[in-house]
Amino acid sequence: MKKVIEFLELIWIGFANLFFNLWLSLYETLLFGGKLSWWKLRLQFFLNYFFSRVNWIVKRESTEFEYDEENFIYGETSCLAMKKILETLKFKKGDLFVDLGSGRGLACFYANFLYGLKTAGYELIPSFVRKARNIASNLKLTDVNFYQEDILEANISKAKIIFIAGTTFPLSFIGKMSRKLTEAKPGTIVLTLSYNLPDKYFNLYREMSLPFSWGTSTVFFHIRRNKKVGEKGNKHVVEKI
Ligand SMILES: C[S@@+](CC[C@H](N)C(=O)[O-])C[C@H]1O[C@@H](n2cnc3c(N)ncnc32)[C@H](O)[C@@H]1O
Repeated sequence: MKKVIEFLELIWIGFANLFFNLWLSLYETLLFGGKLSWWKLRLQFFLNYFFSRVNWIVKRESTEFEYDEENFIYGETSCLAMKKILETLKFKKGDLFVDLGSGRGLACFYANFLYGLKTAGYELIPSFVRKARNIASNLKLTDVNFYQEDILEANISKAKIIFIAGTTFPLSFIGKMSRKLTEAKPGTIVLTLSYNLPDKYFNLYREMSLPFSWGTSTVFFHIRRNKKVGEKGNKHVVEKI
């Protein structure tokens, strides 16, 4: 009986997620469908992934790497979430947006589509990087770049905004990544999902609940502290939206 209930629960979660994503797609079509570049982007993703399912790619290619399965549990950022995030931030057109663990590259494409940001996505799965580069090249987006590189090796020194949708990353990896993020220059905006970063190096100033492909998650907004004066940790007020 317990097994039957668990099975029914899984079916329910599957259906709920399907309807959630349908609603999100419809809403995004209403919001962004007035722009031709939105349809060009959608068409490129459709064509590039028509014969290859995302989960098959992850299953086949993630075994090459020595990381836990949790590093590769896949989900994506919606354009709506990216819009809500970016409209609260101060930056200039052409500033660098870095996505650590960029998957198929959607967050980078959206940041460029919405605000003309220069973007760099770092991702281990080779097919994701190859296809993302192909899409950027077909759309002639010279400011949207992808690197098949480990997050822990990424060049983040020039970033204005760093985004990490690593909700399922294991704790041991989050620790290493948090240390890596201290390489960001003071003033860099660092956005994480589901967990925040050490107060000594990052000033958490906002939390925002937003829609992603798997449901709603909290986005934590930090600023890399000034290394000289800030690392002791100054008081901050967290705005919850
Ligand atoms: C949840 S997905 C996020 C995709 C994308 N950032 C988005 O928001 O749509 C996380 C991605 O991180 C990648 N990843 C996990 N560990 C990594 C590592 N050490 N270096 C580079 N990418 C990694 C996974 O392959 C996966 O594609």
